[in-house]
Amino acid sequence: MARQFFVGGNFKANGTKKQVTQIIDNLNSQELPKEVEVVIAPPSLYIDLAVKENKQPTVQVGAQNVFNKPPGAYTGELTAEQILDVGATWTLTGHSERRTIIKESDEFIAEKTKYALDNGLKVILCIGETLDERKSDVTLQVCARQLDAVSKIVSDWKNIVVAYEPVWAIGTGLAATPDDAQETHKGIREHLAKTIGKEQAEATRILYGGSVNGKNAPDFRDKADIDGFLVGGASLKPEFVDIIKSRL
Ligand code: 13P
Repeated sequence: MARQFFVGGNFKANGTKKQVTQIIDNLNSQELPKEVEVVIAPPSLYIDLAVKENKQPTVQVGAQNVFNKPPGAYTGELTAEQILDVGATWTLTGHSERRTIIKESDEFIAEKTKYALDNGLKVILCIGETLDERKSDVTLQVCARQLDAVSKIVSDWKNIVVAYEPVWAIGTGLAATPDDAQETHKGIREHLAKTIGKEQAEATRILYGGSVNGKNAPDFRDKADIDGFLVGGASLKPEFVDIIKSRL
């Protein structure tokens, strides 16, 4: 089954109003392939700006994080309703920087994912192992545990894209090799087949993230279970467009 190639750009806590505008202006000025789905996730303060600036029909805007409850007395949080209100359609959940730095639990991430989906957002669910976990050979167990927290409470996965981002590859310049990434993606899909069913597992896109750039993106093109990328640093640069075009 053909899964649509997907490229996400996670700006993290980078950029100013001016820089976010420049990044989007650059995307607007390009001829982007119609067959590639693109989502950019600027810092939450600039989501509104990004939605207004974006002129590309294949580019959608997302948040980097979302809360697990409706609007209310939750100081500092951002709700699914508010993200949708400003015209964004996606959110990330479970990014490793939130799992490790902010100490978000698998269960909290699963609740956010469910709440976002139930309220009409699409979700890029991030999973991945740390270097210690990789060395201990528990990569797939870690990914399975992170996925299971979600599959326990979410049965319909049509609006979920999974992003496999090994923590040791994020921001280090040391991307996983295409073979290693493919092996893990295959394991993730096999695990999903057992938990959400073969049909949904086959349809779910699994992105690779971690030091993807304009140069190495084409190296992943022949990997059967790699359906796109979640890009950090390089999404702030003009080479993001090369990544979007890397499967042409
Ligand atoms: P880098 O592309 O900067 O390694 O970041 C990856 C990432 O964390 C995207 O969510």
